[in-house]
Amino acid sequence: LTNHSSGKMGYAIADSALRAGADVTLISGPTNLNPPGVTKLHSVTTAEEMLRGVNEIIADMDIFIGVAAVADYRPKTVRSEKLKKSDASIQIELVPNPDILASVTSRSSPPFTIGFAAETTDLVPNARKKLREKKADLIVANTVGQGGVPFGTEFNSLILIDHRDEIDLGSGTKQLLADRLIMEIAPRYYATNPSSHS
Ligand code: PMT
Repeated sequence: LTNHSSGKMGYAIADSALRAGADVTLISGPTNLNPPGVTKLHSVTTAEEMLRGVNEIIADMDIFIGVAAVADYRPKTVRSEKLKKSDASIQIELVPNPDILASVTSRSSPPFTIGFAAETTDLVPNARKKLREKKADLIVANTVGQGGVPFGTEFNSLILIDHRDEIDLGSGTKQLLADRLIMEIAPRYYATNPSSHS
């Protein structure tokens, strides 16, 4: 849901979760990728559509992972016709988009919720702030480095942050890191939901 995000990280996580035996519903913004063979795929183009898609399914979900780089703002008005060029400067009014992750964690019985944070500075403190403010169970922090990495590339470096610790998941392909991430999420989910472990 941004110009720079490709969906690679999210699709890799959906694929890892499938291979780990989960039923996976993938709600995806536009990408050029072939989606993994998930249980259910819901394609959206705007943050509001993504929120509606999440609201439709979230009551049945045990775990929610929010990977999309959802735009924080959207234009207040959208024209159906081309804007004519003139010499005058123009202003575009932006209004805040709904915060999908925060809406999930503010439910009366939220699923185990994991958010992502891409930060250019102070990675861990900023990600930890998001963990608290968004009331997520876990935040996955990725450093934004040279050339916009990890946006759109095959590679990433991740640190998993919970309310006590930081776990360095290392660097590598998004698929390798997605596999490591799912292996870390599973025991933490079962620790908070012991009855669901079969
Ligand atoms: O798709 P790729 O090219 O592979 O790139 C992957 C990625 C870099 C986009 C991904 O790994 C990542 O870091 N995604 C989150 C980017 C980010 O910094 O998000 P944020 O700080 O704007 O939001 C924090 C969390 O809130 C995220 O889980 C986000 O999905 C969620 N959010 C944000 C805004 C909003 N309106 N609704 C949300 O749910």
